[in-house]
Amino acid sequence: MENKNTTIFSNHTIGKLTLKNRLAVAPMTRVSGNEDGTVGPLMKDYYQAFAQGGFGLVITEGIYTDKQYSQGYKFQPGLSDEAQAQSWKPIVDAVHENGAIFIAQLMHAGALSQYNKYTGCNAGPSAVKPLGKEMTFYYGEGDYSTPKSLSKTDIDDAINGFVNAATLAKQAGFDGVEIHGANGYLLDQFITVHTNERSDEYGGALVNRLRIYEEIIRSIRAAVGDDFTVGIRFSQGKVNDFEYKWPGKGEDAKYTFELATKCGVDYIHTTEFVAKEPAFEGGLSLAELAKQHGGVSVIANGSISNEKDATEIIEASQADVVTVGKLALANPDWPNAIKTDQELREFSFDMFDPIADLKTANEFFAKNT
Ligand SMILES: Cc1cc2nc3c(=O)[nH]c(=O)nc-3n(C[C@H](O)[C@H](O)[C@H](O)COP(=O)(O)O)c2cc1C
Repeated sequence: MENKNTTIFSNHTIGKLTLKNRLAVAPMTRVSGNEDGTVGPLMKDYYQAFAQGGFGLVITEGIYTDKQYSQGYKFQPGLSDEAQAQSWKPIVDAVHENGAIFIAQLMHAGALSQYNKYTGCNAGPSAVKPLGKEMTFYYGEGDYSTPKSLSKTDIDDAINGFVNAATLAKQAGFDGVEIHGANGYLLDQFITVHTNERSDEYGGALVNRLRIYEEIIRSIRAAVGDDFTVGIRFSQGKVNDFEYKWPGKGEDAKYTFELATKCGVDYIHTTEFVAKEPAFEGGLSLAELAKQHGGVSVIANGSISNEKDATEIIEASQADVVTVGKLALANPDWPNAIKTDQELREFSFDMFDPIADLKTANEFFAKNT
């Protein structure tokens, strides 16, 4: 008999979109595009499988937005020109034909860029060398380079890049865009105290450190109109600094989520190591803080590994939708597997070895199924 978990298998409306259930695929960089930033040959089947597997919403990998400093990784796809945008169309159609909503994540890597075919260097709010090491499974090696500090013109170019990419995403048929404001990439480098040493209107107090978010959200909204869904992702931890916590013990979270909503986002997507754990010492999770202070739909992410985890978060109204990353890679059909009570496959990091791309993953699955 079919599992009728009405908590996770109920509709939810985000902006003008109605999701058929509360289960979504988290954005995941898979470095499987072509060198020119168009989509690669394995990407259609990859995304289509999540839609066929019953997910109500699929969020793409982080897509770069301009031909200045946004590209982060070799073989990362872009949305910086018509050809790149058009290349997504067959994937968009395949996802839609299989009943899922499809949102493009727009990403500017900033100081964490490991590869840039256009300018050959990285740039961030300030010339601060990033913590940690480049990711080898994305063709990185050794320390990050110290970035160039962005001029005011560079910042305007970066904002325009987000707007252009959002417009191209809409033209390509995506249902919305998610601004990547998390995980240590450019926007997060602006809010993070130790990577932003600016003394202009983009540095110093939180209101200044959030200015680029405000300008991007408002400019995208003005360009795409009210019918196109716009979301934003926030995190405390970063790919190169897992333990980072926002200062202010919840005050910064309140201000940040209120601001994002005021500027016109339709949803806030929070990601923490464990979605349902308190964001600070005790108290609410980051998703719950977003629910409390944002007033828009909230998507929660982080270590959700089964139906029970997902149900608890939705039932307790900690979030409206959950995204899963590694669980979806191992089980692209997770929603259908829940319905038919199938056993879940274990995720293995071997599918990223040596490169976290689709070719390596397909070889891994061919050997292990
Ligand atoms: C291979 C891989 C690539 C990722 N790439 C992105 C990305 O492009 N954008 C993003 O916001 N998060 C990215 N993430 C983070 C995931 O969206 C998610 O936050 C993380 O996997 C934790 O969720 P999980 O515990 O369900 O896996 C990536 C994660 C993985 C495993």
